[in-house]
Amino acid sequence: MQEEIERLARWIAEAKRVVVFTGAGVSTESGIPDFRSPGGLWSRYDPNDFYFQRFLSSEEARERYWQMHSELYGMLKAARPNPAHYACVELYRMGKLSSVITQNIDNLHQEAGLPADKVIELHGNALKVKCLDCGRLYPREEIQRRIDAGEKAPRCDGCGGILKPATISFGQAMPQEEMRRAEEEARGADLFIVVGSSLVVHPAALMPLYAKEAGSRLVIINLTPTPYDDQADLLIGGKAGEVLSQVIERTKEILRAN
Ligand code: APR
Ligand code: ZN
Repeated sequence: MQEEIERLARWIAEAKRVVVFTGAGVSTESGIPDFRSPGGLWSRYDPNDFYFQRFLSSEEARERYWQMHSELYGMLKAARPNPAHYACVELYRMGKLSSVITQNIDNLHQEAGLPADKVIELHGNALKVKCLDCGRLYPREEIQRRIDAGEKAPRCDGCGGILKPATISFGQAMPQEEMRRAEEEARGADLFIVVGSSLVVHPAALMPLYAKEAGSRLVIINLTPTPYDDQADLLIGGKAGEVLSQVIERTKEILRAN
């Protein structure tokens, strides 16, 4: 592992535009389960209950969705950034980070200290709730209070429309502007680092390919294999927090020595 840490630290020291692409694996050390590891969320809930068409189909489906999402929200509220999130902030402070493209909805990159405009959220953010009809945004906490007070599937105060967490569910349209920016960032990177993602959900998982196509180095830090491992210039099979902390420390030493 030390050899890989050293190599990545040197590549970061040389890099001009680092893009970090994160998945649920960067937040497991904050206590939020990922989706596809043993014990992950898809072993506790049926993903079909989270499809957008199901959510739109009936009041009963929305009540069930909000009940499950209330449990998830409890976990998100309790979670704090971990060393993996703070390592991304360090990269930003070094002037190396162009952006973080994240599939996560937990807001932990921002909570760790990254400016919001440095975080591209491909699957939205669970701390906001959006009206599907008029687009009005609500703080998730306010909606949770209404649910706890008995409103099983809250409606918009303004237009009576259906409210949904501002996340992108399976079957829901991807956010155009975020997708455009993410692809632009991937194609503009000289070092693209995937951390904690199984890289099985598209179109998000295309981003490492765009980076590779455009000539970037591709590094994958993940506990388990991904479909893109054969295209990576470097694989590090370790825990995100530990690996990234060591890499950042080593990068700082190299930059100081130069
Ligand atoms: N350090 C490094 N890797 C980790 C860690 C960790 N501490 N914990 C878990 N992992 C790895 C797992 O081995 C797994 O390969 O992170 C990966 C997480 O993969 P998924 O659970 O599939 O999560 P993700 O890739 O983010 O899923 C993408 O799927 O369900 C949708 O919208 C949801 O955004 C999510 C998308
Ligand atoms: Zn509305």
